[in-house]
Amino acid sequence: MRGAATPLALIGLGAVGLRLAAAWKRAGLQLRAHSRSRVSREAGRALGLEVGELPAFALEHARCVVICVPAPAIAEVAAGLVPLLARDAARPVVLHTSGGAGLAPLAVLRAAGCAVGSLHPLAAFAPEGPGPPFARVWCAIDGDQDARACAAALVEALGAQALRLRDAPDAALRYHAAASLLSNGTVALASLALELAGEACERPEQARLAFLELLAGNVDNLRERSSERALTGPVARGESATLHAHLELLADRPLAQEIYRALSRQMLALAQRDGRIDAQAALAIARVLEA
Ligand SMILES: NC(=O)c1ccc[n+]([C@@H]2O[C@H](COP(=O)([O-])OP(=O)(O)OC[C@H]3O[C@@H](n4cnc5c(N)ncnc54)[C@H](OP(=O)(O)O)[C@@H]3O)[C@@H](O)[C@H]2O)c1
Repeated sequence: MRGAATPLALIGLGAVGLRLAAAWKRAGLQLRAHSRSRVSREAGRALGLEVGELPAFALEHARCVVICVPAPAIAEVAAGLVPLLARDAARPVVLHTSGGAGLAPLAVLRAAGCAVGSLHPLAAFAPEGPGPPFARVWCAIDGDQDARACAAALVEALGAQALRLRDAPDAALRYHAAASLLSNGTVALASLALELAGEACERPEQARLAFLELLAGNVDNLRERSSERALTGPVARGESATLHAHLELLADRPLAQEIYRALSRQMLALAQRDGRIDAQAALAIARVLEA
């Protein structure tokens, strides 16, 4: 693998760590792992991974360490690794897999001479199931120059694609807010819409399938054209009366109504930017949304 710094140590065999470790092992990378719970260590061993009871087992000879623990725990795990760094050996690169934590939680390792960075797979890893196919996943990489190079090689080993973040103080947080808005926001929005659709259709399970196809169609549209051009529906057509009726229907669901209103404001901005509706229609919609 071009430039992949191995042996690799992976700490935290949770939803992300297990999938990454298994994929890197499949790619032929030398890897040792550690997780604090016996259950997670057993899950790793069941996948044929070399898993140790202590972080020192994974860290021995490692040229790169990937910390796959929740953001609030990264600094604690990082601090625990400092005393394990061999005194005379070259310092390993240390990466974490959080999207928004930035590099601050790895400061103690940077102070100890490690290049530090992050490798964030931009995908949803549910606790169960095989996880997303890495060939379709982009991974955001950030950090010190050596850490970025190391992360890029690891992304290549996954068969994934690298998404380089700007070298700006708030880039990681900005990127993560965008990811959360799109990924988790879509799930939250879908839950509201599917509830409504289930009430409207004779067979809610069919409604679910039908509406998920609708969602997939929008993703296809967005692949082909800008958000402005991909927008369809009452706002894009300038139908203020339809909007009014929808908002009235949602009166007994204040949260759904608030979300509908907020999203319609963004739809209005898109429709106006694209010149899809005239000033009069835009004003009528704005009035309905304000009411
Ligand atoms: N899930 C996603 O879709 C996703 C996507 C991209 C990136 N990420 C990022 O990847 C990281 C891991 O997420 P995940 O979904 O894999 O989480 P997870 O399934 O909850 O796994 C977390 C892992 O961290 C370990 N851990 C938790 N607290 C710890 C502590 N205080 N000290 C030591 N180890 C600790 C756990 O060890 P034990 O199991 O041994 O207790 C577990 O292996 C997070 O930073 C997350 O933001 C997640």
